[in-house]
Amino acid sequence: KGESGLTEINALKQQVLALQEQMKILQTSFSKYQKAELFPSGRAVGVNIFKTSGFEGNFKKALQSCRQAGGEVASPRNAAENEAIQEIVTIYNKAAFLGMTDSQTEGKFIYPTGEPLGYSNWAPGEPNNDQDKEDCIETYTNGKWNDKSCEESRLIICQF
Ligand code: IPD
Ligand code: CA
Repeated sequence: KGESGLTEINALKQQVLALQEQMKILQTSFSKYQKAELFPSGRAVGVNIFKTSGFEGNFKKALQSCRQAGGEVASPRNAAENEAIQEIVTIYNKAAFLGMTDSQTEGKFIYPTGEPLGYSNWAPGEPNNDQDKEDCIETYTNGKWNDKSCEESRLIICQF
């Protein structure tokens, strides 16, 4: 009985070694695909990936395209994520929409998840709700934010 137990343990050890080998191969392959996928203008920050279609559209269009792709409109929650988005905006030289709005309650910007902002990078004097019709946010090539009409057309950057 003790001997068959040992045989079983050795068999399991072999299986663990084989799995470790397969994991290594998978990681190498994944890392290669990730690099190819993010080239030239996708950005990965932690678990989040930011990517643009290169197209512009109003906010509704941005919501539709990002959701259809299985993501959300890019919604930076810290400086590193904001910088990643800024790099994409700079490459295309087109201001982009962010995913947060204050459509529900004027002056209270929320993430697509409904939570209030935990990080912001407003340009001086913003948000000013100009002409009482700015519920969306555009981000300039300098990474600063301006509240803007959701009807304007801006670069669409999604977050996955
Ligand atoms: C406006 C200004 C303002 C900003 C508004 C913009 P416009 O642009 O840049 O500072 O707060 O969101 O709409 O209308 O003068 O071209
Ligand atoms: Ca504004």
